[in-house]
Amino acid sequence: EKGGFEHFMLKEIYEQPRSIKDCMRGRIYPSEGKVQLGGIKEFAEKLKNIDRIIIVACGTSWHAGLVGEYLIEEYARIPVEVEYASEFRYRNPIITEKDVVIAISQSGETADTMAAIEMAKERGATIFGICNVAGASIPRLTHAGVYTHAGPEIGVASTKAFTAQVTVLTLMAFYMAQQRGTITESKMIELLTELDHIPEKIQKALESDKLIKEVAEKIKDSRNCLFLGRGSGFPVALEGALKLKEISYIHAEGYPAAEMKHGPIALIDEEMPVVFIATQNSSYEKVISNIQEVKARKGKVIAIVTEGDTEVKKMADYCIEIPDANEAFLPLLATIPLQLLSYHIAVLRGCNIDQPRNLAKSVTVE
Ligand code: F6R
Repeated sequence: EKGGFEHFMLKEIYEQPRSIKDCMRGRIYPSEGKVQLGGIKEFAEKLKNIDRIIIVACGTSWHAGLVGEYLIEEYARIPVEVEYASEFRYRNPIITEKDVVIAISQSGETADTMAAIEMAKERGATIFGICNVAGASIPRLTHAGVYTHAGPEIGVASTKAFTAQVTVLTLMAFYMAQQRGTITESKMIELLTELDHIPEKIQKALESDKLIKEVAEKIKDSRNCLFLGRGSGFPVALEGALKLKEISYIHAEGYPAAEMKHGPIALIDEEMPVVFIATQNSSYEKVISNIQEVKARKGKVIAIVTEGDTEVKKMADYCIEIPDANEAFLPLLATIPLQLLSYHIAVLRGCNIDQPRNLAKSVTVE
């Protein structure tokens, strides 16, 4: 049942080229520059006039929401707020009929996310779901939705469900952009053509597995670990830190790279590994200066870089390459090595990979 893999988590990490493909099947038409999302089709007109999107979710799904915020604001130009379902539901949030709430949940059973949906629904918002489990409670509570189609996820630490959620959010961002006319057809053709090839690039990213295992050997005894990124690399950093905490029990924090100097920099010494998302995109130069700040304090730098990078290689202790891609697709690729890194560290520490202590696959208590 683990398909020759030692753990479900590893199997699910390796399934990602396929699960992303499944998630996009029948939804993207690269040569025409069109996205079709049957699940939210009846709201196509409504999407032209909405004022705001509120994304509600927990844990890893909340991280996917943060990536969604970048994409929707960038392409569809709709203001987005991303909320922890557990916080949102206990406030007295301002919600109107012109709001769309997107609830993201792998299991479709998370109690806080369900309660957030119910509250927003009572106040007149339109609710979309992004779920992995067909027929679960959340898809039944929402007005419309888009399934992630990642297949059953058994490992408690979410991997393929996360990248599928990010894929659906990417498709939603493009779909909304198409409806609202905030993107040209030629730009859509360009983006969708590239998106269509992302599964192959994920495959390529998986090929660094052996190198990542070597890096894991070097940092496995650390007590703390910092993950830093900027732009859409920031939610990737948060997700990398969460994966590491969950399965290896190493204390890890994700931070926006520029925020480091406002506090966390005090933690840096030769004992502190710092994982940077340092790919070549709009924040590349800025991230490089953040790496210099860490190196000046003798931190150990592990960098996720674009294939062929030479700048970061001069400074970092270890570099893990991912294929070059449009910034929009960076989270899908940069997440892969971080999943593998936490996996190998946890294996080396003898942890229970698929069932980490104190965690459950779906959190049905509030
Ligand atoms: C992390 C993880 C949890 C879930 C969270 C939400 O690896 O699995 O943080 O992401 O409990 O669960 P869902 O997406 O099922 O609502």
